[in-house]
Amino acid sequence: MNNNGIEEVRARLEEARSVAVLTGAGVSAESGVPTFRGAGGLWRNYRAEELATPQAFARDPALVWGWYNMRRETLADLSPNSAHTALAALEGRLEDFTLITQNVDALHAMGGSRRIVELHGNIWRVRCTGCGAVRENRDVPIAIPPSCDKCGALLRPHIVWFGEALQDDVIAAAYAALERCDLLLVIGTSGVVQPAASMAAAAKGAGAYVVEVNIEATPNTTVVDQMIVGRAAEMVPLIVGVNR
Ligand code: OAD
Ligand code: ZN
Repeated sequence: MNNNGIEEVRARLEEARSVAVLTGAGVSAESGVPTFRGAGGLWRNYRAEELATPQAFARDPALVWGWYNMRRETLADLSPNSAHTALAALEGRLEDFTLITQNVDALHAMGGSRRIVELHGNIWRVRCTGCGAVRENRDVPIAIPPSCDKCGALLRPHIVWFGEALQDDVIAAAYAALERCDLLLVIGTSGVVQPAASMAAAAKGAGAYVVEVNIEATPNTTVVDQMIVGRAAEMVPLIVGVNR
């Protein structure tokens, strides 16, 4: 482990006035959330890329909802870990802080974070395929097929699927934070799904000091100023300086 790297990052964090964080499934791994890629990333022989698409939902909504029910069941029992709570503590020290997450698990909010940009939506929200209404829905399991209480049409998860565009206001909020931050932490993401995969480079290009925390190298590793190899729940509290 590279302790010099951690000291450097801590010093940079002390000086930073504006901090952004980009997280992926790895930040929730130690809460028990399965990651999408790698071992354990399969469900009934389907890959996330085959289920999280508008085409899969059009073909077989019950299959896709079955997968989301499995994920809802898993997530309903889980709690934020020390990476989530350390990021909330960091937010409390800074006037300008933005947490950009690809995760739909809502664990950052449970961990106390407030200024959150959810790039890919939230698993506890549903959207009507007829009238477009978005509702919170915490049913576990959700009745299949779920229907809209306003218009009766089929409900879908309020999640951005492969092949779908992110919401304009969400993308704008993320890029505004990336462009004005002095320091970006990129935690637990494989860096292969766009547009998040380009965000480390965008912040770097705008002058930020960029730090990656991951258990292994990713395409972002060649872009960042500092790579901290290790588990998020262990490394993020060390970097942020909580639990000392
Ligand atoms: P991935 O599953 O692709 O990658 C998880 C990353 O976390 C990998 O780089 C792992 O090495 C790393 N990792 C695993 N355990 C870790 C730990 N304990 N500490 C630190 N790092 C760890 O997840 P994402 O990059 O989030 O999209 O995937 C991006 C998107 O693809 C997801 O948001 C999802 C998926 O399809 C949607 O749901 C729309
Ligand atoms: Zn409706």
